[in-house]
Amino acid sequence: MAEGTTSVVIMGATGDLTQRRLLPELFNLRRKGRLPEHFNIVGYSRSDHSDEGFRQYSWEKISEIGSLNASNEEWDEFARHVHYVRGNVDSEQEMGSLFNRLLQLEGELRPSNRLFYLSIAPNLYGAAIGSLSSCGIAREDTGWRRVVIEKPFGRDLASAQDLNSIVRELFDERQVFRIDHYLGKETVQNLLVLRFANAVFEPVWNRNFVDNIQITVAEDIPVGDRGGYYDGSGVVRDMVQNHLLQLLSIVAMEPPSAIDAESLRDKKVEVLKAIRRGSADEVASNAVRGQYMGYLEEKGVSPHSTTPTYVAMRLYVDNWRWQGIPFYLRSGKALTSKVSEISIQFKAPPHVMFSLGGEDRSSSNILSVCVQPNEGAHLRLDTKIPGQDMTLRPVDMEFHYDTAFRGHDIPEAYQRLLQDALEGDARLFIRNDHIEEAWSIVDPLLEGWESPNAPALQYYWPGTWGPDSADALLAQDGHRWLHLCGDG
Ligand code: BG6
Repeated sequence: MAEGTTSVVIMGATGDLTQRRLLPELFNLRRKGRLPEHFNIVGYSRSDHSDEGFRQYSWEKISEIGSLNASNEEWDEFARHVHYVRGNVDSEQEMGSLFNRLLQLEGELRPSNRLFYLSIAPNLYGAAIGSLSSCGIAREDTGWRRVVIEKPFGRDLASAQDLNSIVRELFDERQVFRIDHYLGKETVQNLLVLRFANAVFEPVWNRNFVDNIQITVAEDIPVGDRGGYYDGSGVVRDMVQNHLLQLLSIVAMEPPSAIDAESLRDKKVEVLKAIRRGSADEVASNAVRGQYMGYLEEKGVSPHSTTPTYVAMRLYVDNWRWQGIPFYLRSGKALTSKVSEISIQFKAPPHVMFSLGGEDRSSSNILSVCVQPNEGAHLRLDTKIPGQDMTLRPVDMEFHYDTAFRGHDIPEAYQRLLQDALEGDARLFIRNDHIEEAWSIVDPLLEGWESPNAPALQYYWPGTWGPDSADALLAQDGHRWLHLCGDG
């Protein structure tokens, strides 16, 4: 076991993410024996707490949320490693107290490594990095220093570029871990395996065989108590710029020659660069925006808000592999069910001599990756219905993690990502250029929606699949939304 010590400094320690994900997953890592022998967690926030008070506060919060399955005794054992310092992220002086506390906890142990986790309001990222820099706590003298930065990273291209340049003044890119928790999901990682460890897919994974690709990230829950944040953000900033474009880049990327962080991230960025850009009006005419009925009554939402809670859009990736193939993305709140699914619809056979057994059905194979829930994959094939007639019906070959990997738990995304950051593995984190490319894709859409020519905001009832015009968008191309995962 290494002799040094590792400290995780959580800025925004009393916040929801810390209590819902970070502390529980650090606990789980510890339980699995995956944290270094000498480790400290130091919470840093504005509220007043002693170490003991913070441990108690966290235990109560975690129990209330139900984010951890642990006994009191197990928590107490873990909580001995949890400490607390009160302070503001923009105060150099208070950050100095944090520094002193860290030095005290680290003692003579070397190396003394530090991971700073920014789980604070995004408008404070710049200030926090400024004080980390000025008080010297992030200097790489006694061990490595890394920073994990939560989404949203900027709110448009310009602000993301500004933030990247602030980050760059203090940290090398190798020290920066921009998080997108979708990359920590098992099924998203499995997408790489599915594509690049199975030779059967690569020959057909292109414009010659694929008809269209659909990415759905639907949620059944409404905005709830996050209205204050969400209303200033909306579905494109909250979901598309990050999670959906991450999924798209993995589905569409060229095979990297190695699985190291740079090879992988180079290929993903190439995809984003190839996404067709257009004027704000053009981009907006390839998208539908919706808002669920009742959104205006949510706490923290302006009564006149036009913030979209739903989007459906069509994108093209202009390269040899995907030229002319539509990628349809949709995401929304308060929809029928929570499901994240990627469907690759293959082209129909050139000539079908059988009866397809359904009125408006085309014969084409579909591969659906069920990202969540009921993680797994489906491959839709046409088969003959037994009997005299040559009538066909589609059936799914499917596998699901709960049966295929019985006895294996699916680790929560944050667990994986925290461990990766502690190990310095950046494969599942976002590089600066990826963030900027992603903003440059969605900025024209956001701008287009500001224009007087913008397609109107559509309203939809909670519990539906969103506005009808999202169906019309695909119908323009002779397609319809696919949903193979879940209950069909
Ligand atoms: C977050 C968004 O990044 O992802 C939330 O801010 C959204 O609005 C959440 O609910 C969805 O994550 P998951 O893992 O539940 O699909």
